[in-house]
Amino acid sequence: MKRILTGVKPTGIAHLGNYFGAIKPAIELSKNSDYECYYFIADYHALTTVQNQEELFEYTYHIACTWLACGLDPNKVVLYKQSDVPQTFELSTILSNFTPKGLMNRAHAYKAKVEANEEAGEDKDYGINMGLYCYPILMTADILLLGADFVPVGIDQKQHIEIARDVASYFNRKYGNTFSLPEELISENVGALVGLDGRKMSKSYGNVIPIFADEAKLKKLVNRIVTDSTAPDEPKSLDNTIYKLYKLFGTEEQAKAFAQKLQKGISWGEAKAELFNLMNAYLSPMREKYNYLQQHREIVDEILRNGAQKARELAKQTIKNVRKAIGVVEVE
Ligand code: TRP
Repeated sequence: MKRILTGVKPTGIAHLGNYFGAIKPAIELSKNSDYECYYFIADYHALTTVQNQEELFEYTYHIACTWLACGLDPNKVVLYKQSDVPQTFELSTILSNFTPKGLMNRAHAYKAKVEANEEAGEDKDYGINMGLYCYPILMTADILLLGADFVPVGIDQKQHIEIARDVASYFNRKYGNTFSLPEELISENVGALVGLDGRKMSKSYGNVIPIFADEAKLKKLVNRIVTDSTAPDEPKSLDNTIYKLYKLFGTEEQAKAFAQKLQKGISWGEAKAELFNLMNAYLSPMREKYNYLQQHREIVDEILRNGAQKARELAKQTIKNVRKAIGVVEVE
């Protein structure tokens, strides 16, 4: 059985780009009985940027409730928090000794910050903490600790998986086969979703639709979708944001019927109303579940507690092997 692992940073409110790009495909994967899935909340990765007690706390529940409300079945997926698996941090310390510093200098996130500093005429490491610099090592530890075979990630994380593979190979070459080499699983969908203004849906563009926006807010956002100046009775091109979103939520038949209406000519106002109805029907049950879980966090705690226990079982075995390999004396 192949092991799949992925981590989610609790750094913000999940939007439809996250849903269709990452959450939905990962949940689909977990329904395949050839895989055992470990999905976790990377709270110590978030700490590089989220340095506010309430935010980290709230975003952590937000991510847990989001994945559960989107259909993650805790009987099929081991859902846990990184911070509940302390072996991660031991492995991270060990692996830092097998990670060339030059490799970290070339990591995209760090490099981009350095370049921005240089452009701004600042010291090259201005505002960069060691958490960011060592981020790929911690991520490598997450992955190798649980012996992941496949890691579903967005294309922006591909380099991190390559780093994990490199570090695992260095270690294996020195101490014999200790780690399996992980492979990235890049969902083609990732990043393809359009936002309100027709550009990629992204927090940095301010064009996102939160998955669990309440009905009134959802309606408002749908009404804000940018359209062209085609008159109400004129045929519409299908290259528009409303149709692109509609296709994601509707069945093939629904999308076909909607395309015909657009091509015959309906007003953008009507088109938006139809999109809203479809989206709201799809999202309402998820929203209800999300709100229920947020109000019953003890349910979420129990799921995370069970998940952490299972993750730690694997982690303990890995650490035992690694300690033995490197020659750490075990007296306990
Ligand atoms: N770096 C990932 C991101 O920003 C989150 C992450 C942390 C992760 N550890 C991981 C993803 C391990 C996959 C595997 O999206």
